[in-house]
Amino acid sequence: MQDQLSALVTKAEAELPSLPTRPDVEAAKARYIGPKGELTGLMKQMGTVPKEERPAMGKLINQTQMALQALLDTALARIEANELAAQLGPAIDPTLPSPDPLPGTRHPLTLVREELNSILRKVGFTVVEGPEVETEYYCFDALNTPVDHPARDAQDTFYLPPEATFPNVAKKVPNEKYLLRTHTSSVQIRTMLKGEPPIRMVSPGRVYRRDTVDATHSANFHQMEGLYVDKNVTVSDLKALLDYVLKSLLGADTKVRFRPHYFGYTEPSFEVDLSAKHLPKVNKEWVEIMGCGMVDPAVFDDVGYDSSVWSGYAFGMGIERIAMMMYGIDDIRYFYQNDLRFLRQFS
Ligand code: DAH
Repeated sequence: MQDQLSALVTKAEAELPSLPTRPDVEAAKARYIGPKGELTGLMKQMGTVPKEERPAMGKLINQTQMALQALLDTALARIEANELAAQLGPAIDPTLPSPDPLPGTRHPLTLVREELNSILRKVGFTVVEGPEVETEYYCFDALNTPVDHPARDAQDTFYLPPEATFPNVAKKVPNEKYLLRTHTSSVQIRTMLKGEPPIRMVSPGRVYRRDTVDATHSANFHQMEGLYVDKNVTVSDLKALLDYVLKSLLGADTKVRFRPHYFGYTEPSFEVDLSAKHLPKVNKEWVEIMGCGMVDPAVFDDVGYDSSVWSGYAFGMGIERIAMMMYGIDDIRYFYQNDLRFLRQFS
């Protein structure tokens, strides 16, 4: 019986690798291991095997069955692979030049971001990136934004489920929550915790807020954060920098004004309005464009900078808002639809 079992496997090894179609494999399966198949036939001879040899024989039968099943599986997988290859057609050479090379254009948000980066690099700012998944500490606590501040409300912020883990974004405080950053101001904190002043950095990137989507709002947009820390920094340094940045970007006729405002991480704080009537479709005299202020001493205390020695300013602007003014775009949703008719207008 032992010989018959191994002969059966040998026969299958010779036959199955050349079966051409699925029905052939099905038929072979019935012949080898089906209820009326050869293996079942051999199993029926168990009664004639002496009692003490039965366990060993049983084991051999099992092994034979597994070997036959594996050969059938391999035959089926080979046929499936052939079918797929037939569907895919002849192999493609990915190194051939494209017959229709569509010249790409830069996305308008990329154009504005790169222009801003380059304007700020000229005056010594370094471009820094931070994670889009943040912890409450970097997004709020360290920015002097207490737990009862409305910006932290689940109505305004996308929190991640408590079981979510992000090995690359270490929690600072036990049990704090992960969230999609609501602003790029979190990168200020990351930068200050990494090194000593003086600091001059900007951080462009994507931010997320719960918001209804309409022509001027999106739950996901882009900001550029700036931070300058040194000795004897004043509001007039801040005003001069923003004048320089906005005039370089939008033209010498651009006017900039500060309005008092409140942000937890700056004191005093301002909202910045732009007047740029020379731009297309700008029909309001003043358009609110960003927030800014002098870094609050509480923020310095939190990152371990001596606030009696160091001073600084910070600002944060929406890139979409600026791009909309620059290019006369009246609906924010155009930025995210990837409609080539829109995108090809920028180069
Ligand atoms: N984080 C603010 C926002 O998202 C913008 C902002 C305001 C950034 C004042 C700053 C600042 O650095 O000082 O609306």
